[in-house]
Amino acid sequence: MIKIAIMGYGVVGSGLVELIDENREAKKCNEEIVITSILVRNKEKHKNKNHSEVLTTDIEEFFSKESDIVVEVMGEITKSLIYVKRALNLKKHVVTANKDLLAEYGEELFELANENGVALKFEASIGGGIPVIKSLIESLEGNNINSIKAILNGTTNFILTKMDKEKLSYEEALKEAQELGFAEANPEADVMGYDAARKLSLLSTLAFRKKVSWKNINIQGITEVESVDFDYADKINCKVKLLCISNNSDEGVYATVKPVLVENESVLAQINNEVNIVIFNGDSIGEIILIGKGAGKMPTGSAVYADVLDIVNKRFTKITAFKREEAKIIENLQGECSAVLRIENSKEQDIIKKCANEFTFIQVLQTQIEGETGVLVKANSEIEIDRFIDGLLANSYVKSIKKIIKID
Ligand code: HSE
Repeated sequence: MIKIAIMGYGVVGSGLVELIDENREAKKCNEEIVITSILVRNKEKHKNKNHSEVLTTDIEEFFSKESDIVVEVMGEITKSLIYVKRALNLKKHVVTANKDLLAEYGEELFELANENGVALKFEASIGGGIPVIKSLIESLEGNNINSIKAILNGTTNFILTKMDKEKLSYEEALKEAQELGFAEANPEADVMGYDAARKLSLLSTLAFRKKVSWKNINIQGITEVESVDFDYADKINCKVKLLCISNNSDEGVYATVKPVLVENESVLAQINNEVNIVIFNGDSIGEIILIGKGAGKMPTGSAVYADVLDIVNKRFTKITAFKREEAKIIENLQGECSAVLRIENSKEQDIIKKCANEFTFIQVLQTQIEGETGVLVKANSEIEIDRFIDGLLANSYVKSIKKIIKID
C-alpha cells in the first residue's frame, strides 16, 4: 500500500483524485494508493467531494498523517516552497505541477531531493497531459537537443483560436478559458507569456543541460494581438500563435516567447484551443513532435497520476541539469527572417520604396486601417529588420511600427 497526501484540491487535484479512485476500482495499479490527507484553504468548499473526511486546513495536521508521496498542486510559490522543502527533508517523494515554483527554485529543490534520495517529479508542469519531460529526460537522453519549438500555454492558444475562428473578443475568449479551468488563478501569467516562458526555461534547461533562467527569456504575451493581425495572417496564409522558441548553439541560447505567424500548412498552425505541441530537434533522432492537451482537469491530472505511478514502481531519474552553468543568451534570431510590419505613417509611397530598397523581398498587404501600411518583408537577419524599424521611426511621418515575425 502506498500512502499519498495531496496539497490542493482545485482543478488538477480533483483530476488526480478521480484517476486514483477510478484506477483503484478497476484494480489497474499493483499497489493500492490510499489518500491520507488533502490540504485545502476552505473545507466547506470541498465538503461534497470524495475523500472529504481527510480534508484539512492545517499544515501540521497534514504532515502528521502518514505519507510516502506528497503531491503539490496548490499552484503558488511562497507556501509551496516551504511545504515542498519540508516534504523532501522528511524524505517523502514529491510530485508537483508547479512550473512557477520550479522555474524559480528548481536548483535548490532538485538538490534537496537528490540529497534526501527521493524523487521530485514534475511531468504536469509542462504541456499538461503530454509526457514531454519523460520523453526528454528518458527516451531522448542519447541526443543533444539543438532546438525546441513549442506551444506551451493552453489558455493563450485557446484565446487566439477563438479570436481567429469564432471572432470572439479577447475578453470573451479569456472568460471561456477561465471557466474551462485552463487559466492560472491570475491569468496575467498566461496572457503576458510568463507561464509559457517558465515552461520553456525548464524544458531548455533539461534539453540543453545548462541553466536557462526564465527571466533571461525574451517574452511578449498576447495582450497586444488585435483582430487585424489575424487579417494580415490570412493574407499570407498564416495563423497567429504564441510560440516558444529555444535554439542552442556554440554561441549560446536564443530563447523567446512571442506571437508569431506560422504557415497554414505547418503542424503548428493545426494546434488549436488548449492543445499544446512540443517539437524537439535532436542530433540523433532528428525532429520529434509531441501533441496533446496542455491544460485542464483530466489531462493534467493524468500527468500527475503517471508521476505517482512511476514512484510506486520505483521509476525515476535523478535531475541534475538545474545546477549546471547559466547559458549565455543570444538576443536575436539567427539566420534569414521574415516579418509583417504594420507601419502607421502618412507617406505610404515613401515607406514602400524604402522597404523595397532595404529588403530581399517585400509584399505590400492591403489593409482597411486608415494611415497604416502593411508589408511582409524578408531579410538576412532579424537584426537587419530591427535596424530598419529604428531608422524609419526617426522620421516624423512614421508614428509607430508593429513587427510580427513569420516562422518557416
Ligand atoms: N494556465 C496553464 C495553461 C495551465 O493555460 O497552459 C497548464 O499549465
